[in-house]
Amino acid sequence: MASNKRVPMIAGNWKMHLNSKEAADLAAAIRKGLDPDLKHEVLLAPTFTNLHAVKAVLAGSKIFLSSQDVAWEEKGAFTGAVSPSQLIDAGCTHAIIGHSERRKIFLETDEVVNKKVKAAIKANLVPVLCIGETLEERESQRTYRVLETQLNGAFAGITAAEASKVVIAYEPVWAIGTGKTATPDQAQDAHVYVRRQMERIYGKPYAEAVRLLYGGSVKADNVDELMAQPDIDGALVGGESLKSDKFLRVIHFQAVLKGRV
Ligand code: PGA
Repeated sequence: MASNKRVPMIAGNWKMHLNSKEAADLAAAIRKGLDPDLKHEVLLAPTFTNLHAVKAVLAGSKIFLSSQDVAWEEKGAFTGAVSPSQLIDAGCTHAIIGHSERRKIFLETDEVVNKKVKAAIKANLVPVLCIGETLEERESQRTYRVLETQLNGAFAGITAAEASKVVIAYEPVWAIGTGKTATPDQAQDAHVYVRRQMERIYGKPYAEAVRLLYGGSVKADNVDELMAQPDIDGALVGGESLKSDKFLRVIHFQAVLKGRV
């Protein structure tokens, strides 16, 4: 992949943490510490209630704002849900979809994920689609099958042109919030598999262009070797994105390892 032109993306998923002042302060510290010449993309995903506060802090910066979820309907009687256009109004350009916590705790199926991806694309929100296997699935050699099923489900009925907006995050569930990171080789292997699946679905040019983020206990001290893998194009970061100094180190990963800008 020496000619890899994929722009790296580092995304912070703040989950259900921080009040609006804390979120604004953290966003401000990250904005302040960002290398002004940074060429890759940085994304912050606060909780819904903190979007406006973070939007105000990020105004005029290059940092993108993301939600952690999105409804598939535009409006109506959907108590508790937030629509794509409401998210755009709140300043979002991206939406995380299908995070394993949504799948596991809130029982989201591949069908629901598919509807959300479609709704986001239609509204011009970039979906950051999360996929990944559980420990049990990995230990019973079902990792590839699970990834294939999740990808087939998420992209059902979506054209290649529509799919070109999607960023995919491979997040092995056993590595999320556990401190157990996939080894760079394990992550690279899964990413190669995901890229092959995307080639099967949409062809080679698509597969070479789609960005694949790794997520699951990415830290300041392991990001460099993960980002040195040729098929890892970025990171989706939970816990470590809540500390500005650590997250800034993740953002400014040592690109030189990969010869990337
Ligand atoms: P973690 O979370 O970095 O805390 O493991 C990653 C995620 O859930 O996106």
